[in-house]
Amino acid sequence: MTKKAKSKERRLRPATQLVHGGTIRSEFGETSEAIFLTQGFVYESAEAAARRFSGEEPGYIYSRFSNPTIAMFEERMRLLEGAEAARATATGMAAVTAALLCQLRAGDHVVAAKALFGSCRYVVEDLLPRYGIGSTLVDGTDLNQWRKAVTPATKAFFLESPTNPTLEVIDIEAVAEIAHKAKARLIVDNVFATPLLQKPLTLGADVVVYSATKHIDGQGRCLGGVVLSDQKFLTDHLHNFLRQTGPSISPFNAWVLLKGLETLGVRVERQVKTAAKLADHLAGSKKISRLIYPGRADHPQADVIKRQMSGGSNLIAFEVKGGRAGAFKVANAFKIIRISNNLGDAKSLVTHPSTTTHQRLTEEARREQGITQGLLRLSVGLEDVDDLTEDLDRALATLR
Ligand SMILES: Cc1ncc(COP(=O)(O)O)c(C=O)c1O
Repeated sequence: MTKKAKSKERRLRPATQLVHGGTIRSEFGETSEAIFLTQGFVYESAEAAARRFSGEEPGYIYSRFSNPTIAMFEERMRLLEGAEAARATATGMAAVTAALLCQLRAGDHVVAAKALFGSCRYVVEDLLPRYGIGSTLVDGTDLNQWRKAVTPATKAFFLESPTNPTLEVIDIEAVAEIAHKAKARLIVDNVFATPLLQKPLTLGADVVVYSATKHIDGQGRCLGGVVLSDQKFLTDHLHNFLRQTGPSISPFNAWVLLKGLETLGVRVERQVKTAAKLADHLAGSKKISRLIYPGRADHPQADVIKRQMSGGSNLIAFEVKGGRAGAFKVANAFKIIRISNNLGDAKSLVTHPSTTTHQRLTEEARREQGITQGLLRLSVGLEDVDDLTEDLDRALATLR
């Protein structure tokens, strides 16, 4: 794409970027983006290959690190996030691991919020220390804990917000300030907010990561991840790490995600609207003992949400009476809402975090994060709100 075309696209609003951003049309003028399902590329001559490899001539070399379909997905994400650079990966976990490892070495130290997705917590707590990278976990909502955890070796801060599954919201701007004072980079896992409801880079974060498996696909079809940053981070750290270690996304999956982005706006808008109605409905139920929804005034960080998010979420966390037995009874009684550990899908999905996504944590670590045995996480889909309300009522009615 020419520089002129790029700057014109950047002025377009998100809804338009979601449909047109980053499109590269081939000589055939196809309407829908082409899938370049190829490992590599051929060159007109040995000299041309040499020029391509030396960087003298732009162009694709090998799909482990560059491919036209993947490039379209990366460019659409880059425009949407307002980042200088974007790189896609095979999964969200590959994005998280690459964002951390590409910049760290033995002797460095990471500060992360405790309330992390189980696998992210494994990377920070178990994997990094194996390679001599220390880590300290803090209560992400307590700014003093972030400050106190900093050591002269601290190079990165890592958090997700809203958190999985208790939907805690962390003040990204304040944590970024503490990170930058310590000369550390802040990495934000923005999965639960989606690129539409929260802009971490604008709030001061240095790197944003996504599991594109969630809302970006939004139809349960494939896995994917994205890392977004400034150009310098890409050039100095990320590009070479991804190129040499190869956690690459398939061009086919990148195409699925590219098509997912086209409908992301309408899906998320509708899901958040439905979730808000369901959360209000649940707030009146005698069968639940705790309700957490980022779109409600009774959310513990409602003031932060007002400042840093443009909407609630399609996720609701609620605790039913009767502990694990009560939670299982409710989950098993749903007729429309399905039991699954995914989220952001067109289908409404319910998860029992303490026995699935957060099973590997100790009971004490779960308790610290508020992940009780009665807690359920509901990812609201695209079904009719009245059908979902009836499904919730029917399932909750099974509790005495
Ligand atoms: C907050 C968060 N980050 C990262 C991931 C990992 O994404 P993936 O499953 O695409 O590897 C998940 C997956 O559930 C998640 O919920």
